[in-house]
Amino acid sequence: MVTRFSVFKTEVKGKMKVSILFVCLGNICRSPAAEGAFTKLVQEKGLTDQFIIDSCGTGDWHIGELAHPNTRKVAQSNGIQLTHRARQISSKDLEKFDYVLAMDDSNINNVLRLAKTEDLKQKVIKFRKFDPLYKNEPDVPDPFHGTEKDFIEVQEIVTRTSESLLEFLITKYKLG
Ligand code: 4NP
Repeated sequence: MVTRFSVFKTEVKGKMKVSILFVCLGNICRSPAAEGAFTKLVQEKGLTDQFIIDSCGTGDWHIGELAHPNTRKVAQSNGIQLTHRARQISSKDLEKFDYVLAMDDSNINNVLRLAKTEDLKQKVIKFRKFDPLYKNEPDVPDPFHGTEKDFIEVQEIVTRTSESLLEFLITKYKLG
């Protein structure tokens, strides 16, 4: 059973968890890369049972597909095996997840259309708000039409931003 405990924390079968949903357009490049990078960091810190981590896309073109071959290749070279299958976001996701982290401004606008209340809107945050190298919350660049170099850049962005996101959550919820 999933119970809303307070804004930004969820109770699952009596255990408090923080639930994080990474969102991009197709759910085959940026958000699965972020999901994989964040999951690896959570595992390394032994915090797996304190998180629910998932990703999805605002679009429906790639539903059921594995991540893009270059996303998987670059993740693999960082010790991350991506097995996620693409899915499309629904309004239920905004109820279920505590943090809905969008990769770019267009994703944010699309997700906000599903959020009917102020509480739900507050969950929608630009992922790179947590990027320690930038103050202006830039987009995670879409590598879909790019080269392997663009996928490597995405991996670097999602890795350092996930590190800082996880530190924020550990401090905020006194995890560990
Ligand atoms: P993503 O990249 O949103 O990072 O998964 C894209 C994947 C597919 C498409 C666009 C962006 N597409 O147009 O199919």
